[in-house]
Amino acid sequence: MIELNLPHPVCAASALTDQPLAVRLLGQDWVLWRDEAGLPHAAPDQCPHRGARLSLGRVCSGQLQCPYHGWRFAGSGACTQVPALPGWQPPASHGLATRPLTAAHGLLWLQPQGDVQALPTADGKAFAAEDDARLRKLLVGPCEVATSAPRIVENFLDLAHFSTVHAGWLGDADHAEVPAYTVQINLADSAQPGVLATGCQAWQPQSNRLSTEGSWVDYDYRVPAPFCAVLEKAPQAQGGYRESIALFICPQDEEHCRVWFRMAVPDFASTDEELAAFQMTIFLQDQPVLESQRPRRLPLTDAAPVQEVHCAADRTAMAYRRYLREQGVSFGVQ
Ligand code: FES
Ligand code: FE
Repeated sequence: MIELNLPHPVCAASALTDQPLAVRLLGQDWVLWRDEAGLPHAAPDQCPHRGARLSLGRVCSGQLQCPYHGWRFAGSGACTQVPALPGWQPPASHGLATRPLTAAHGLLWLQPQGDVQALPTADGKAFAAEDDARLRKLLVGPCEVATSAPRIVENFLDLAHFSTVHAGWLGDADHAEVPAYTVQINLADSAQPGVLATGCQAWQPQSNRLSTEGSWVDYDYRVPAPFCAVLEKAPQAQGGYRESIALFICPQDEEHCRVWFRMAVPDFASTDEELAAFQMTIFLQDQPVLESQRPRRLPLTDAAPVQEVHCAADRTAMAYRRYLREQGVSFGVQ
């Protein structure tokens, strides 16, 4: 499964404090903790001794202590102490198979196996707004969503639902038509690999927290990795206003995800709560429809029991599906 060899966000960096934290990724349970230097570590959430959940334990002097017999593990994974045998040096076989965690965009990213890959946004282009000092950054979430990661990405890329699901906000029944736009799939060795949709337009009554009138809004979308998407939008009525929102998904299992929105906005006047409230208003409009979709796993292959039909307004979604097939993605699809 290629997804195991990709980094995925598992929690907000601020959520990992001085106690172990349980997370779930791609159907596997992990425990996270910080060592004395504050560096985060991850290991399978199962003690190598008798299988107890390590996340029920505690952190002592930067070491993870199992809740059952109190074995302690260093950030390297080495078992450093067995309380029942003081002075005994446990062998390497008694340690944890730890994995490194990468901090970025306010999140901690975990790659379950293989040589650690660069994050999907590491090229500085997929989410260039993160490094733009003129934009204010904010992490919104997590939102627990009962569907597959590809369904969530497709919804994020979808322009044709604005006039219905987001009527009065991101769309309007009198402007339901989706104007033509350009979609391409770039190969892995290109400057911007993944799916790219440019020249998208939508008429939006309330495009962002600061908009005071309806406006045509220019959109670009990018999918730099199977479970990640980024948009840039610029309302024509707000000259110079350009914001970017990244969708970061932790696929907990095939049909359950934890979702964050990383916002980069030229709005320094609103409070964090106000900005988050706007984003959540929009997402809570999406969520019931998103969770109602059946099957929850994206029908991707000819063998899928249900074959969905498409129209020309779905070109980004169709390109995304082709990209998933080319990447060999098998999690959250059928
Ligand atoms: Fe963890 Fe025994 S099960 S120390
Ligand atoms: Fe939506």
